[in-house]
Parts: sequence; structure tokens; C-alpha cells
Amino acid sequence: MTNTLVTLESRPSGAVQESNFGLKTEAIRELKDGEFLVAIEALSMDPAIRGWMNAGTTYIKGIELGTVMRSFSAGKVVRSKNDSFQIGDYVEGMLGAQTHAISDGSGIRIIDISNSKITHHLGVLGMPGMTAYFGLLKKGEPKPGDIIYISAASGVVGSTVGQIAKIKGCTVIGSAGNDAKCNFLVEECGFDYAINYKTEDLNSKLKEYAPDGVHIFYDNVGGETLDTALLNLARGARVVICGAISQYNDMGNIHGPANYMKIVTARGYMTGIIVFDYVKEWPEAAKEIAGWIYEGKINVKEDVVHGLENYTDTLMMLFTGKNFGKLILTV
Ligand SMILES: NC(=O)c1ccc[n+]([C@@H]2O[C@H](COP(=O)([O-])OP(=O)(O)OC[C@H]3O[C@@H](n4cnc5c(N)ncnc54)[C@H](OP(=O)(O)O)[C@@H]3O)[C@@H](O)[C@H]2O)c1
Repeated sequence: MTNTLVTLESRPSGAVQESNFGLKTEAIRELKDGEFLVAIEALSMDPAIRGWMNAGTTYIKGIELGTVMRSFSAGKVVRSKNDSFQIGDYVEGMLGAQTHAISDGSGIRIIDISNSKITHHLGVLGMPGMTAYFGLLKKGEPKPGDIIYISAASGVVGSTVGQIAKIKGCTVIGSAGNDAKCNFLVEECGFDYAINYKTEDLNSKLKEYAPDGVHIFYDNVGGETLDTALLNLARGARVVICGAISQYNDMGNIHGPANYMKIVTARGYMTGIIVFDYVKEWPEAAKEIAGWIYEGKINVKEDVVHGLENYTDTLMMLFTGKNFGKLILTV
């Protein structure tokens, strides 16, 4: 039996390139006591992967050259010498970008796929869904009647934030990069307004939809988007910095936020969210989100590509806006 894996061969400067990765096949070794073997079915393609390819440590250590690409992955246990993980169990965790992974169970959770797709556990019921849940509820502190603006709103994080905000009684504005994504936000996710930031003027649209400013800005984009949103804060606004995808390819030369003094005049605050800080609370949050999906209050959209050989092109989709929904690479 062999394992095929995607490795990090060089660190990108700017956008990722095919030459940054290797695709290798190697024999799978025997299991030691306490270990099990997972046949991976799907990988979560996340914007954070670009940051993990840099040298050094941020909230997590950079991936070492020559090793398997770090990835949240899900699959089925096919061999086991660990009593807690039986053959046939479905599991999810940082199992890497590969067809098979050996694990001792650290950080791996068994998932129930009787009522959900395995891919949901990498998206809305996995790390990105948890990011939306805790970023909004713990950091954004939504109240009924609040107006929230979400950037990169059509992705799994943004669309989940917006739909939870609707459940909490907020007016929801999202921005996205094309009309199809904007239609999805309004028609399928129940957003009140969607702004195509490529064809419409973000500042004037925010002023039109929130004349007195937004109470929460949930930012996934950074850069100019963050600067424009800062011009449109209501008094007491919360700015939740979840991500800055417009900046990830050039982290040494970050743009903004030039308008940060608007936080002072708004008597607001700007705060960051790292989803891993809430790991102990993930199971309860996933249960609540699953309930909302079951009740039809949360709509899930996935964009699925097949084949590890398409790893580079698939990862690049996140940075060109070609993905539409939670990006998954099936194995
Ligand atoms: N803090 C945490 O713990 C944590 C955890 C998970 C994710 N995140 C962050 O959450 C954000 C969303 O993640 P996701 O998985 O849901 O990804 P996603 O939104 O599905 O994909 C990224 C989207 O960003 C938009 N984008 C790309 N480059 C852009 C640019 N230069 N300017 C404006 N928009 C751009 C594109 O949509 P358009 O077509 O709309 O441009 C693209 O589809 C990311 O910033 C990610 O890093 C943070």
C-alpha cells in the first residue's frame, strides 16, 4: 500500500507556484501501538495555507521544507492499533495533503456522517464554521438591530457569519467579487444587501445601506476594504479582524489601516480572532450550527475539485476569487 502526498519544496514569494510543491508516492510503514491509518477522502483548502508556507512562526509554526503540506483533512480509518479509533470510523483533523495519514489521535476527532456530508466537517461544521461562529459571537457581540458588514462574504466563513447574524436579528451587508456571488448572498443566504466590490463603489454603497454606520465589521480581506469600512463605523462599532486575504501574498508590505483614527471617533474597537483559541468549545458550536442547517437557517455552498495533482491550481482559486463556496479538494 502506498501514500501519495503533496510536499512543500520551496517558499513562495508572492503568489504560490507549481514549483513550490512536490507530489510524491511512498510506501506506508507498519503501525505502532496507539496509531491508526486514515484513507483520506477530502482536504480543506484554506487561505491560511499560504501563511503556513512562510518561514517562522505566527500563531502556528511554518511548514518545514520537504514535509507534507499541512491541511485539515477527513477520511476513514482503515487500519488501527488504537482502541479509541476503530476501522470504519470517519475522522477529521490536521491529517495533511495526502491520500493516507498515520495518526496517534492527537487533535483528531471522530465525525458522524450519518446526517451530514463528510465535506461539511471541513467547512461549516469544521474549522471555518467555528471561525465564523466564535468570531461573530465572541468578538462581534451581535445584538438585534445591529448592522453588520462582512467582506469576502460568499466564502464559507463570510456566508456563515452573515447567516448567524441574521439568526441573531442583525441587518446584514456582504461584499463579494461577482454578481453570481452577490445573488447567492441575498437569495440563498438571506443577506439584506450585497455589494459587488469590483463593479460598485464600496464606500458609497455602505453609506447607502448603513447611513449611520455599521455596528460590526467582520473583515476577511484587509487592505483597502478595511480602510473603506473604517470610514463607515457606527458609534461603539466592533471591527473583527478575521483575515486579510488581499495581503497574504505580500505580508512584508501590508497595506493599511490608514483610517484607524475612525475607531477613536466611533468609540469602537478592533480585535482579532484565532479559531484555535476555542477548540474546547467546537463540539457544542458544531452541534448548534448543524441544528441551524437542519432547520434551513443556514445554507451551505461547496466548490469541489478532484485530485492531488490539482493542488496548486486549487489553492490559487482562493486568491483569484475563482472559488464559489467552501473549497474542497477530494482525493
Ligand atoms: N482567524 C482565523 O482563525 C481564521 C480561520 C479561518 C479562516 N480565516 C480567514 O477567513 C477568511 C475567509 O476564509 P474562507 O475559507 O471562507 O475563504 P473564501 O472566502 O472562500 O475564499 C477567499 C475569497 O476571498 C476573496 N478574495 C481573494 N483575494 C481577494 C482580494 N485581493 N481582495 C478582495 N477579496 C479577495 C475571493 O472572493 P471574491 O470573489 O469575493 O473576491 C475569494 O473567493 C480568510 O481571510 C481566512 O484567512 C481566519
